Amino acid sequence: MFFGLLANPELAPRRAVLNDLNRDLVTVYETVRDEVEPLIEALARLSEAYLAADEDRRSEFYYEQRGRQPDGAVDLAARFIFLNKTCFNGLYRVNRRGEFNVPHGKYRSPRILDEPGLRDASHALADVELTSADFEEALRAPQAGDFVYLDPPFEPLSKTSSFTGYTQGSFGRDAQQRLKWAVDDLTDRGVRVMLSNSPQDYIVGLYRADRGPFVEKRGQPGERYRREPIPARRAINSRGDRRGAIDELLVLNYPQDEERRALESARGR
Ligand SMILES: C[S@@+](CC[C@H](N)C(=O)[O-])C[C@H]1O[C@@H](n2cnc3c(N)ncnc32)[C@H](O)[C@@H]1O
Repeated sequence: MFFGLLANPELAPRRAVLNDLNRDLVTVYETVRDEVEPLIEALARLSEAYLAADEDRRSEFYYEQRGRQPDGAVDLAARFIFLNKTCFNGLYRVNRRGEFNVPHGKYRSPRILDEPGLRDASHALADVELTSADFEEALRAPQAGDFVYLDPPFEPLSKTSSFTGYTQGSFGRDAQQRLKWAVDDLTDRGVRVMLSNSPQDYIVGLYRADRGPFVEKRGQPGERYRREPIPARRAINSRGDRRGAIDELLVLNYPQDEERRALESARGR
């Protein structure tokens, strides 16, 4: 979302704050912003060692990196990116002790080091404030007229698809409820909010619960939040059985015409 907005001159924010509870992830962003050349050197060493090895040795090398303690921010960021590029499906998951526990992936030639991408990201992040706090604390700062995008861990669609392991503690229904109260608070303060989640009944129910200005069909009581389904990418395919399937749900607290007006006034800026 941030990099997408920045790439569009009409939407680029004048000031931005990015927050995540995962301290290591925020350290990666800080290192990309502040120490991109040492990071590129450290990643080049990991990339060369990995890509030169045969399949067995690659796996060994991966588990060595996964098992060791990082030494300083540059080393932590290089190891984090290396593991992300070489692990199974680029997944991020930690165990109860907070240790990364995704198995080795099987990519033939993963792009472990993307020098121009890292330099571009470093430039994009130059004036960005990075914080690592619980969302409740981070959401105290926004003021009327600000825009907040929330990308919480998704509520699982089924018990078997349960995956909430980005951080040591899981993000259960209590956290989804706490987040909804934080969204209410932002709405009361005049902050524009966009939140994405899975279209799970519990989440839909949470954001439908209050009365407000948004009406889907004439004659229906209004709701406090607008909901926009994001169709599954598969639905664009010819697979008829997947047509109409929904991957994600957007929850918004501002009307669609306001989006258009904001875009128009940004154009005149
Ligand atoms: C769906 S991911 C979002 C990833 C991120 N937006 C990105 O594009 O890389 C959900 C994120 O929520 C973070 N998270 C979990 N609990 C949190 C909390 N209580 N406060 C703030 N962030 C939290 C996780 O660390 C994880 O990175």
